[in-house]
Amino acid sequence: MYNPKFSSRTLIVPAILLLLLLTAAAVFSENEDADDLGEIDELIAIDDEQENGENSQPAAAHFESGESGKKTEVLSRAQRVVLELNGDTAKRAIEENEYVLVLGYAPWCGGSAELMPRFAEAANVLKGLGSRVLLAKIDGDRYSKAASSIEIRGFPTLLLFVNGSSRPYTGGFSSEEIVLWTRKKTGAPVVGISSVADAKEFLKQHSTYAVGLFDKFEGPDYGEFVKSAAADNEVQFIETSRAELAKVLYPVGTPTKPFFGLVKSEPEHYTSFDGKFSSDEILHFLENNRFPLVTVMTELNSAKVYSSTNRQQVYVFGEDDDLQKLLKPLQEIAKKFKSQMMFVAVDIREENLAKPFLTLFGLEDSEDTVVVSFDYNSNSKYLLESDITSRNIEEFCTGLVQGTMEPYYKSQTIPDNKNVSVLTVVGKTFDELVLNNPANVVLEGHTPWCITCEATTKHVEKLAKHFKGLDNLVFARIDASTNEHPKLQVEDYPTLLFYPANDKSNPIKLSTKSNLKDLAALINKNLKTQEDATKDEL
Ligand SMILES: *[C@@H]1O[C@H](CO)[C@@H](O)[C@H](O)[C@H]1NC(C)=O
Ligand SMILES: *[C@@H]1O[C@H](CO)[C@@H](O)[C@H](O)[C@H]1NC(C)=O
Repeated sequence: MYNPKFSSRTLIVPAILLLLLLTAAAVFSENEDADDLGEIDELIAIDDEQENGENSQPAAAHFESGESGKKTEVLSRAQRVVLELNGDTAKRAIEENEYVLVLGYAPWCGGSAELMPRFAEAANVLKGLGSRVLLAKIDGDRYSKAASSIEIRGFPTLLLFVNGSSRPYTGGFSSEEIVLWTRKKTGAPVVGISSVADAKEFLKQHSTYAVGLFDKFEGPDYGEFVKSAAADNEVQFIETSRAELAKVLYPVGTPTKPFFGLVKSEPEHYTSFDGKFSSDEILHFLENNRFPLVTVMTELNSAKVYSSTNRQQVYVFGEDDDLQKLLKPLQEIAKKFKSQMMFVAVDIREENLAKPFLTLFGLEDSEDTVVVSFDYNSNSKYLLESDITSRNIEEFCTGLVQGTMEPYYKSQTIPDNKNVSVLTVVGKTFDELVLNNPANVVLEGHTPWCITCEATTKHVEKLAKHFKGLDNLVFARIDASTNEHPKLQVEDYPTLLFYPANDKSNPIKLSTKSNLKDLAALINKNLKTQEDATKDEL
């Protein structure tokens, strides 16, 4: 569900998920007698201890905080709408029902404890809406065999089964988001609005939605609209055929049928779709417009920002005050590049959010404003290296769009290599000292925190002394954790590479486990191969 192509993003995603789960954003509906278990039949094995036991306590308490105790009471009733599966019932439940949304949990797992009450609440709301989906949960720790037979392998896991086949869950984790996603994927992707009262009620509960206006709810345009509603994961789609209702739901311009528009709570409130009605185009339109011109990143929306498939993303990191000042000019720039890139502002003091990105540029200690960009197509990153002015930011964006910006590679500052036996190479000097060096190069890739690197470093120093005086052989080392180069191939530490003088693109890996003597012999052998190859060429 995420798009974690940069490795340190992968690391932060679980943390963000947890934070998401910790933040309640629930509207509770009490309009229902949850004790009426209806058609949920003999499959049910409600374990009341489970329902009201320790596992659900922290989350229930969380819901209660700042509110009356009533929610907790409703919550424990609501939890019974969720079918508890066990070793005997799991497979049958997913085989015998058209739609089953299953939550795999473990009693010891904090993420599960946070998710369970939201899931229960979603079950309650879905039932109230007359949804055909069955919500079920299974203790995957206790019934591990049954859980893995229905593809539950981690906790918490949400999976939707449609006639027995699983689909990954790609929605959000508040109860509202669970409801929204589940309806989209189980045959109710669009909500119909047929009266002004309906429209007003809807507006009370939603600030972001997509509205379709059609003469008739049939035909190819309408078909594409419904298809995109089901494919999208998070925007509520509504439909109406009456112009006076469209006026309430989309009160700008005069929508002509067929019409599709997006409504948001941020600036750029109303955006109408002017493409051809195809689900691809509609989804593309949503992707480009569902975020505000400039998204201010928070713990809450970060997962959505990460999962955005918008190819090019521009991030501005800065102190809150500086960001506030930059926001207006940034919005102006964002308007110009709207369908091409997404703009995100991050408070540099929000370390959880800012550091993982800044580390990718070696700027984790920066206190100044930093502007960077990621291109998820080419997996490249860019840094604005001139002063941070709106003019320079705009030029940076133009360069990105036109493909004239050079990708950024991390580099330490260029060291003084005078009078050393082993050269220190950094990202910026890798070309000069290794690739374009006419000599053979033995390069040690290390990091400051790798303990086993020390022995190799000592070996390299001794080898440098041993081979001193050979002008066709150079020894060098690079801290590969803080220096990057597209042609630097260091995957683990320590790494020893022999770059033959006549073929720098194919370095030979030398075993760092060899003793000094074997290493010297290996280097001699490679030098010899080099000489022979050179002779052959002559
Ligand atoms: C599930 O199976 C039933 C019976 O074969 C079928 O009528 C229904 O359309 C299927 N549902 C989906 C979503 O494919
Ligand atoms: C340069 O290296 C030589 C021999 O290793 C040493 O004697 C000399 O002091 C060094 N000079 C400097 C400036 O470090």
